[in-house]
Amino acid sequence: MDSAKLWQQAAEDIQWYQKPTTLLDSDSPPFYRWFPDGVTNACFNALDIHVEQGRGDCTALIYDSPVTDTKKQYTYKQLLKEVALFAGVLSNRGVSKGDRVIVYMPMVPQALIAMLACARLGAVHSVVFGGFASNELAVRIDDAQPKVIVCANCGVEPSHLVAYKPLLDEAIDLATNKPEHCIVLNRPMLDTAMVKGRDLDWEQEIASAQPVACTPVNANDPLYILYTSGTTGQPKGVVRDTGGYIVALKWSMKNVYNVEPGDVYWAASDIGWVVGHSYIVYGPLLAGNATVMYEGKPVGTPDPGAFWRVIAEYDVKVLFTAPTAFRAIRKADPQGEHLKHHDLSGLQALFLAGERCDPNTLEWAQETLQVPVIDHWWQTESGWPICSNCLGIELLPVVPGSPARPVPGYDVQVLDGEGNAVKEGDIGALVIKSPLPPGTFTTLWRAEERFEDTYFSKYPGFYETGDAGYIDENGYVFVMARTDDVINIAGHRLSTGAIEEVLAEHEDVAECAVIGVKDQLKGQLPLGLLALNTGDKREPSQVIAEAIQLVRDKIGPVAAFKLCVIVESLPKTRSGKILRGTMRDIADGTPWKLPATVEDPTVLDNITAALQSIGYPGG
Ligand code: COA
Ligand code: AMP
Repeated sequence: MDSAKLWQQAAEDIQWYQKPTTLLDSDSPPFYRWFPDGVTNACFNALDIHVEQGRGDCTALIYDSPVTDTKKQYTYKQLLKEVALFAGVLSNRGVSKGDRVIVYMPMVPQALIAMLACARLGAVHSVVFGGFASNELAVRIDDAQPKVIVCANCGVEPSHLVAYKPLLDEAIDLATNKPEHCIVLNRPMLDTAMVKGRDLDWEQEIASAQPVACTPVNANDPLYILYTSGTTGQPKGVVRDTGGYIVALKWSMKNVYNVEPGDVYWAASDIGWVVGHSYIVYGPLLAGNATVMYEGKPVGTPDPGAFWRVIAEYDVKVLFTAPTAFRAIRKADPQGEHLKHHDLSGLQALFLAGERCDPNTLEWAQETLQVPVIDHWWQTESGWPICSNCLGIELLPVVPGSPARPVPGYDVQVLDGEGNAVKEGDIGALVIKSPLPPGTFTTLWRAEERFEDTYFSKYPGFYETGDAGYIDENGYVFVMARTDDVINIAGHRLSTGAIEEVLAEHEDVAECAVIGVKDQLKGQLPLGLLALNTGDKREPSQVIAEAIQLVRDKIGPVAAFKLCVIVESLPKTRSGKILRGTMRDIADGTPWKLPATVEDPTVLDNITAALQSIGYPGG
C-alpha cells in the first residue's frame, strides 16, 4: 500500500473534532505537517473515547511497585476521572492551551495522570527523567519556560530514596525563568519542605478542583517537548505534534506490536524517555490496552525473576525493554531458574530497543522465553520504530544483530560522506528520505535553525539519523554505531561533549576527553581522561574523586560516570583534533592504526599505559 493511502486509512481510526481534508503540507521542507487542518485531542483518544464506547470498566493502568510494595489498578473510567480532575487543578493555576508544564517525577501513576491532564488542556508537557540533576533540570526549565512544574518529593531506588524536591528547588534557583507554581506529590516516605506561595500539595489541590473537558487542538499543535542529548551540553527539545503522533502510535500498536483492545502491554522503561511517552502512556491507551507502569528494576527488586512475576501476574502479552535489562537478568540468573516459578504462557513477544542488541543477548532471551524476540530501532526524534519486524503484519525471520526492515512509512537508505548511495552491504550513514512519516518530530523547541542544520543539511532531502550501518541483500538494516559523540549507557542516550563541558569546569583540569567504552552490562560507560594544569600538586585521586562528583552533581547519576584517569596530555592530530576514536579502540582492545595525522605518537603510549592502570582493555 502506498504511504498516502496507509496514513489516510490510519487517520480514520482516530477521533477528530474536525477531520483533516489535507494529508500532508509539504510547502516548506524540511518542515512537513501531517493532517494540517485536522482538529483533535490526544487525551480524548486515549481515555474518553473508550468510556464513550462502553469500555470504561476495562483496565487502563496497572501500577506495580516492588520498591514500595504497592499494587494498584485503574479502569478507563477511573483514570479519566483522575486526569480530568488534575486538568482542573492545572487550569485553576492558570495553565491553558500552549502553556508548558514540566513533569519531574518517578514511575508513579500521577506522572502519567499529569501528562494526560496537560494533553487534555492542550498544554505542552515536558517530562524530565528523575536521574538528571539540578543543572540539567535548570537548562530544561529555561528552555521550556514552564508555567507550572509537577514533581514528587522523592523517587525510590532499591537502595535509597532520591529526594527530587531539593533538586527541583536548586534547579529553580539556577534557572532564569521561574515557574509560577510547583505542584508536589508528597509521598509518605519523606518529609519535604514546601516553599510558601509557590509550592502546592497535590492532594489538597485535587480536593478543591473540578473536572474539565478536553480542549480541541490543531493536529500540529505540540503535545510535548522531550529533551535529548546532542553533541553539546545544550540538550535538544524534540517537539512532537498531536495528530500525526496519535495516528502513528495507534497504527503501530496493531501493526508492529500486534495487540488488541484489552491486551496487557508492558514497556519496562521510564516515563522520562521516549519509550515511556510512546509506549507506557500514549500508544497502549490509544489502543485500549492495559498499560503496566513498573517502579522497580529487572534485578534486585527482589530478584531476577521480577519481570517474569509481572508478566505472569497480569498476563502480559507484549513486553518491551532495553537489551541491558536482559543482560542484567542473564548475569544474575544465567540458567533462567527463576522462570520455573512463573507461568508465561500469555506472552506473545519480546521487543527490544534503545541500544544495539548483541546477538548473544537476543539468542539467550529467545531460548529462555521461547517467543519471538524482536530487536527494533528508533530514536527520541522518530517517536516510534523506524525498523522492526512488524508482528501484526508478518513475522519475518529474526536475524540477530538486525532490527529487520524499515517499518511502512520510512524510506531508509545508506549514504557515503559525499551523499552517494553505497553498495549493498557497505557501511555508511543511515538516513531517511523526507518526508518522515507521521508521529516523528516536527522541529526542535524554539530552535528551527538547529533542526535544519543538525538533521537535514548534510544530506539534502534526507533526515540524518546520527547512526551508521548497512543494509544487506534481504533489505535487513544493521545499526552499528553512532556517527557523533552520543553514547548509550544502559539504553540511556548521553553526550560525551556534555560530560566534557562539566569536567572542563574543574579548576585543575587543563583539557579533557570523554569516550564511551564497552561494558558488558550497560553496553557502554563513559570514561574520562584528564590532563591537569602544570604545577598542580594535588593528589590525582582527589582530583578524580572531585571530577566524578562534579558530573554527578551537574548531570546526574544517570550519567554513571565512575571511570576517570589522569594523563600527561591528550593525543591530537596536527590540526588539534583530539583522537577520541583511537583512544576508544585502545580502551576496548580493538585493533587500531596510528593515524597518519597524529601530532606526537608517543602520547598514545602514555594513554595506553594510563588505561591499563585502570584495567582497560578488559575493564
Ligand atoms: N530517579 C533518580 N535516580 C535514578 C533513576 C530515577 N528515575 N533511575 C536511575 N537512577 C540512578 C540510580 O539509582 C543509579 O544511581 P547510583 O549511581 O547512585 O547507583 C544511577 O541513576 C544509574 O542508574 P541505572 O542506569 O538504572 O543503573 P543501575 O545500576 O541502578 O541498574 C540496570 C542497571 C541495567 C538494571 C538498569 O539500567 C535498567 O533497568 N535498565 C533498563 C533500561 C531502560 O529502562 N532503558 C530506557 C530506554 S528503553
Ligand atoms: P534515544 O533517542 O535515547 O531513544 O536513543 C536513540 C539511539 O539509540 C539511536 O540513535 C541508536 O544509536 C540507539 N538505538 C536505539 N535502538 C537501537 C537498536 N535497536 N539497534 C541499535 N541501536 C539502537
